[in-house]
Amino acid sequence: MKTVQTINELQNFLDSNKGKSIGFVPTMGYLHEGHLALLTKAREQNDIVVSSIFVNPAQFGPNEDLDRYPRDIEHDTELATKAGIDVLFVPPVNEMYPSESGITIHAGELSTKLCGESRPGHFDGVLKVITKLFHLIQPTKAYFGQKDAQQLAIIETFVKAYNFPVQIERVSTVREADGLAKSSRNVFLSEKERAEAIHLYKGLTISTEIWRETKDISLAISEGKRYIEQNTSGKIDYLEALAYPNLQSDFNHAEQILFATAVFFENARLIDNIIVDVKGV
Ligand code: PAF
Repeated sequence: MKTVQTINELQNFLDSNKGKSIGFVPTMGYLHEGHLALLTKAREQNDIVVSSIFVNPAQFGPNEDLDRYPRDIEHDTELATKAGIDVLFVPPVNEMYPSESGITIHAGELSTKLCGESRPGHFDGVLKVITKLFHLIQPTKAYFGQKDAQQLAIIETFVKAYNFPVQIERVSTVREADGLAKSSRNVFLSEKERAEAIHLYKGLTISTEIWRETKDISLAISEGKRYIEQNTSGKIDYLEALAYPNLQSDFNHAEQILFATAVFFENARLIDNIIVDVKGV
């Protein structure tokens, strides 16, 4: 595996591999089994695999965890090598953002809900870096985890609306044995919070079960919230159900419903979700 830090080196590598299919896995590093699932799928489906590690300042708000976002480039390099990827792009900030053009991308209505409410501008920052990375790498397929369901819905919509020549591949959430979704931010949980954090998934499961049995969304949401409140010391940011992937609250034509939650712990805000197929329920 080759590690490159500059756009020039990246493009030299890509130029010497012209005509091959490219699988791309964008990350912010501190890689875990969730990322490994993305890398493995990309490896299976493409001639060459490119991954990036870039803690993107544009997607962090002023009071968020940009400075203390976990980083471990040695471990990441080892894991990416084991996953058999071809090139790891690890640009410094001034390589990605050498100057500001003053031109911005707005994620629009889809970014006003769920995480967008407490993280204004976050999805604009995600689209900014994804646009640059897609233009630089021109991947055939790009891989995103279902754990960031809103991010995935926004990227799918963006790519379709603006004719980016890339196929977006959804990859299922990878969980710890007790159900906690794998996340780089789990490292910020205290021992007590780590034990409590499994209740996010359990609360979501309660919501989806109640919805399946009763089709009563309000009851499903309130019971899921009640469960999380009773079993964690965290503060619920939201627990909501929206049609997926259009994130509307009208379920009439929905094929899937997203039950999603975000919970603030002392030093980490965790998210999780379950997507339910409406057909045949
Ligand atoms: O999901 C992430 O890790 C980031 O939002 C992404 C897609 C790499 C963009 O910085």
